[in-house]
Amino acid sequence: MSLPKLETCFSPSLLHLYDIKDSIVVIIDVFRATSTIAAAVHNGAAEIIPVDSVAKCIELGAQIPNSLTAGERDGKVAEGLQHGNSPLEYPRDFIENKTLVLTTTNGTRLLHMCSDANEIITGSFLNLGAVCDYLVSQKKNVLLACASWKDRYNLEDSLFAGAVYESIGKHFEMNCDSTRAATHLYKAAKNDLYGFIQDSSHFLRLSKFGLQYDMEYCCKINEHNVLVKLVDDKLVAL
Ligand code: MLT
Repeated sequence: MSLPKLETCFSPSLLHLYDIKDSIVVIIDVFRATSTIAAAVHNGAAEIIPVDSVAKCIELGAQIPNSLTAGERDGKVAEGLQHGNSPLEYPRDFIENKTLVLTTTNGTRLLHMCSDANEIITGSFLNLGAVCDYLVSQKKNVLLACASWKDRYNLEDSLFAGAVYESIGKHFEMNCDSTRAATHLYKAAKNDLYGFIQDSSHFLRLSKFGLQYDMEYCCKINEHNVLVKLVDDKLVAL
């Protein structure tokens, strides 16, 4: 019996090269959107509505009862939004049963670009195990889609793709050099993920805002081990 296929897309600008209609797409934005999503959902958020503009975020936030607006542009809390894009901003006693309306520079943008996908889940080191278990159980083609930074390659999302392949690669057919490269990178980094990632463009960008503690948190494995899936345009726990 043939195995499902697993591929990695390093940038939203390369998405058109992949057959997302026939795949589970894993949206990856380790720093920080998909880490924030894992933390908020694990801590009891009722749902997260990913939107692609600040204006839409504010509009929905005003319409939906018990909701919060959140997100960033260029790493900073976007003007007009109530909260930022930090996984540490959403502890259970704050987020439980609330709806988070979220817009980010790259993560929620890629989510919207993948609207034709067979299925969408989100992935981060915080929920690596749940993502891997789900992908193995579904026996479908998988695209690991890196949100990257404004279409440019980034290290942290590639490392996550490598971590997924290292963990569950044997369940898939793989002939994709992006996946091979990501896996080699992850093997080099895995013993000190946080140390390795400090020499990366987004780490340096967010460090200027004093957000090192956020990124250290985003490197924790299985801290919020929840499977998050897009259902009717909302991200929810499965
Ligand atoms: C994004 O979607 O680009 C981000 O998650 C950026 C960030 O907040 O670090």
